[in-house]
Amino acid sequence: MDHFQYRHGILHAEDVSIPDIAAAIGTPFYCYSAATMTRHYNVLTGSLDGTGAKVCYAVKANSNQAVIRTMVELGAGADVISGGELTRALAAGASPDDVVFAGPGKTRDELAQALAIGIYQFNVESEQELRLLNAVAVEMGKVAPVSIRVNPDVDAGTHEKITTGRKQNKFGIPIDRAMDIFALGAELPGVAMLGVAVHIGSQITDLAPFEESFDRALGLVDELRAAGHDIRRCNLGGGLGIPYGGETPPPPEEYGRMVKRMTANRQLDLVLEPGRVLVGNAGILVARVVYEKHEGRRFIIIDAAMNDLIRPAMYDSWHDIVPVVEAAPDAPMTEADVVGPICESGDTLAKGRPMPPLAPNDLIAVRSAGAYGAVMASTYNSRPLVAEVMVRGDQYAVIRPRQTIDDLIALDQPPPWQQAELE
Ligand code: LLP
Repeated sequence: MDHFQYRHGILHAEDVSIPDIAAAIGTPFYCYSAATMTRHYNVLTGSLDGTGAKVCYAVKANSNQAVIRTMVELGAGADVISGGELTRALAAGASPDDVVFAGPGKTRDELAQALAIGIYQFNVESEQELRLLNAVAVEMGKVAPVSIRVNPDVDAGTHEKITTGRKQNKFGIPIDRAMDIFALGAELPGVAMLGVAVHIGSQITDLAPFEESFDRALGLVDELRAAGHDIRRCNLGGGLGIPYGGETPPPPEEYGRMVKRMTANRQLDLVLEPGRVLVGNAGILVARVVYEKHEGRRFIIIDAAMNDLIRPAMYDSWHDIVPVVEAAPDAPMTEADVVGPICESGDTLAKGRPMPPLAPNDLIAVRSAGAYGAVMASTYNSRPLVAEVMVRGDQYAVIRPRQTIDDLIALDQPPPWQQAELE
């Protein structure tokens, strides 16, 4: 359930009319609903009631300060993947003690940054990283809290580019090597080997692969404990899918029940790293029709493009696209490609999609664009980053102003030998 609904035939975000926002700030723009984020957070945490699980919002899904802040105010921690995300999460008010740092390529500087701050946990993904973290921690007179991210060799059954838990993927330490790594860690003075972490991919629409990977991770916890390691934590990652179109992902309640059942009586501090399920359906991308042409095929050319939302081009992903002014019930629906102005055919947001009649300047909304939308945008074709707006009840605020072309040009710096010519 989200809070983007038609009222009297006009799409609203909560109590705010989308055409009103478009008239005020132009298009394209991302629009987020705070009530939808809140609802999704509450449903997920409600399903984990009694587990004491720390829910660390995966900042990579949408790292706008206002979005992170919304999560933090609800009680979430942060799962970060770079020094930049760590800084963003803290700037939005996340407590260091609720931050987990994941990712296979943390640099020395990033490790030192996180050690200086004193975060909850490093999810370590390789032996070299463990040794470097130890060395940096010893230099700084600290002990780093560590969970080892294991690769359980489980196929998440999701898109090839976002599956992370098979042995041919770059993530984690093969689960059958984990014993050796924990034995090594036990000898290193700068790390405290506290737990096991697992994350097998994103947009997972079936519980079975989760269950299999949790089973392997928890089995490892038992083995490690039997071998004398004081394992207190288990990090179960993120990855729960959302309905974009026809998918039927397990409801968070079912996911939560499974987590409860599998972890009951294990005396483990649990961490979850959900991203998409919290914010995906809480955002839309609003765009305007520029042209329409019928040359053997119907093309709707809009003012948003693959640089604004790359998911269809990158993962062939489906996003529902709806007119902002609701189509009449008897409007003829004809198949169209919804495309942007960028000079490559990959710039297609939807292919062969039944769409109602549309005219230039009509508004459309690309749904479920709250996760991995704005954060993956680029300025390709010198298209400035679009505005982002957050709605709460009957108010809205621009939470990132539209970039201007002057902003973009100002990021470049002419070499000294060209400066004289430009002056
Ligand atoms: N934890 C780790 C270690 C991750 O790598 C990720 C996502 C998450 C948590 C959060 O996963 P979520 O709950 O959002 O599924 N750009 C792609 C998705 C990439 C996901 C990367 N890792 C897309 O647009 O589908």
